[in-house]
Amino acid sequence: MTELVVRRLLVDMEAPIARHWCAGDAFRTALFNALSMSFPFGEQFFIDSVRNGFKELEPEQQERFRAEVQGFVGRGHAPPPAQPVQRAPRQAGAGQHWEPRAKARLKLMEGQDVRHWLGITAANEHFTAIFAEFLLANTDLLGEQDQRLKTLWLWHSAEESEHKTTAFDLYQALGGSHAWRLTWMRRVTVFFLTDVLRQTARNLHEDGTLWKWSTRKSGASFLFGQRGLLRLTYKPWREYFRRDFHPDQQESGASQQWLAANGDQFVPVRG
Ligand SMILES: [Fe+2]
Repeated sequence: MTELVVRRLLVDMEAPIARHWCAGDAFRTALFNALSMSFPFGEQFFIDSVRNGFKELEPEQQERFRAEVQGFVGRGHAPPPAQPVQRAPRQAGAGQHWEPRAKARLKLMEGQDVRHWLGITAANEHFTAIFAEFLLANTDLLGEQDQRLKTLWLWHSAEESEHKTTAFDLYQALGGSHAWRLTWMRRVTVFFLTDVLRQTARNLHEDGTLWKWSTRKSGASFLFGQRGLLRLTYKPWREYFRRDFHPDQQESGASQQWLAANGDQFVPVRG
């Protein structure tokens, strides 16, 4: 069982956020803002999956998961980190295009076996965890211009990494199949990449920087460069397809290190 402490971040998000808060870089700002825009509906779905999955467990299994599930849900999964992060796209005037598409797809899940919900959630949490590890290992990519958002993203990453096993373990405990686990990962990959790139492009369009050469150059370097996101996360993404895969097999030391080194940035709410 993983202990999931609920923490409240102590950053002041009231002051305005710069248009290109992420290192003055239009592409990275637009991409991070796009990801922020998926949190409200995405995280609600993850909570529902975990909460409903927990209810389906046998009583003795519930005991094993109870505290972890409470922590997972208690993280709001996760209004405290998500809400301030959402201020950035809102202040940039970014229109929400991701949510309606995702909600239409999630509607198809109503009444479906909870293991499918958990399969989708586990796949998304794997994406989140490998992205979190990438970010914690490359913190300079967030720039120094806005320490609040930098802290917010690294804190959120550390927590995502901490609870990366919850949905996966519930899926396994409920007898979720290997074949469906892979099917959901394939589908989630296509939808996630399409949605995040579309929303990023929309954000850049609304920002007036979509067609700028500097935006293209930055995007190519961030995604495919030496320390490119896609280059560095391909291997950990691929590992999910192994039959004996478990999220704990992947490195998450950076998460603990960041939380230990930044204890003055948050207070535990309970746990
Ligand atoms: Fe998560």
